[in-house]
Amino acid sequence: PKRVLSGVQPSGDLHLGNYLGALAKFAKLQHETPTFIFVADYHAITVWQDPAKLKQQVREIAAAYLATGLDPKVASIFAQSGVPEHAELAWVFNCVARLGWLDRMTQFKEKSGKHKERASVGLYTYPVLQAADILIYKATHVPVGEDQKQHLELTRDIAGKFNHDFGVPNYFPLPDPLIQGPGARIMSLRDGKAKMSKSDPSDYSRINLTDDADAIAQKIRKARTDPEPLPATLEELKERPEAENLVGIYAALAEMTSEQVLGEFAGQGFGVFKPKLADLAVEKLGPIGGEMRRLLGDPAEIDRVLAEGAARAREIAAPTMAEVRKIVGFWAG
Ligand code: TYM
Repeated sequence: PKRVLSGVQPSGDLHLGNYLGALAKFAKLQHETPTFIFVADYHAITVWQDPAKLKQQVREIAAAYLATGLDPKVASIFAQSGVPEHAELAWVFNCVARLGWLDRMTQFKEKSGKHKERASVGLYTYPVLQAADILIYKATHVPVGEDQKQHLELTRDIAGKFNHDFGVPNYFPLPDPLIQGPGARIMSLRDGKAKMSKSDPSDYSRINLTDDADAIAQKIRKARTDPEPLPATLEELKERPEAENLVGIYAALAEMTSEQVLGEFAGQGFGVFKPKLADLAVEKLGPIGGEMRRLLGDPAEIDRVLAEGAARAREIAAPTMAEVRKIVGFWAG
């Protein structure tokens, strides 16, 4: 059966890239396919998180899920730590995955920086836990941004090796990433060659989901561009990363293709295009920020949603883990 799963880390404010690459897609999928969307608090602690703040950060992501249209009656919305089977399966997968596979992961190289001997071991095996998140539900479809592609390939490798080594063909599905459309790779507003990210020191590099209308408009006004008017073709746009990014953002927000956006704006300068983009961004994001603030006024209600979602998720995760214990031959199997 088809099953959708995805997750977001509770480590810093959500930005436009998270929204267009991931969250905006979740609400659409929930009506077609059983959908599991979680907050990755196990993943978050691969780098230091203040214990006094972590729970509130989890609630903020949950509020963003609800504010972007996920319905807790339709989708299962939960925190990773509410379903400890993720961690148990991750241990088994740590013994399936090969060091050489993890050595190739570019995100570890980026996040560990110059002193990788000082990075946590958890940061290194992070993608193995991600494989467990997905496969504990035998999920088949994983909506994510482009930056998660390599982790999804690793997930497929782990699923394939587990099935092969334990002689259980097709036990775990090889999940397909859903990395689609112009929203899959949103770049920094300051540098069209760098990904929009939570860790960029400049707040002007990104639009946060909680930014108010003035902040959104100002960040778009100040976004780096070139002096040329917008071109008529995608080929010409490709050579201009900042312009390409703004056109892509417009397209993703308006649910159009970049070609259609060029069809509307070719020949116009950024003096015309940026105010239109700002209006569109405020129209789409403004209500989300407002709804998040409203929901966060009642943390007990968010906790209720997360508890109910965890109970539903465990109905799938616990039987999978019980099967895996038997397959591996554990005493407790
Ligand atoms: P995270 O928390 O870094 O990001 C959450 C989602 O946002 C996407 N994203 C972007 N999409 C487009 N443009 C960008 N600039 C951009 N930046 C981030 C990410 O691709 C992601 O979809 N490892 C994951 C969390 C995770 C997970 C999972 C995802 C843990 N287990 C299992 C799917 C399935 C992460 O760190 O995402």
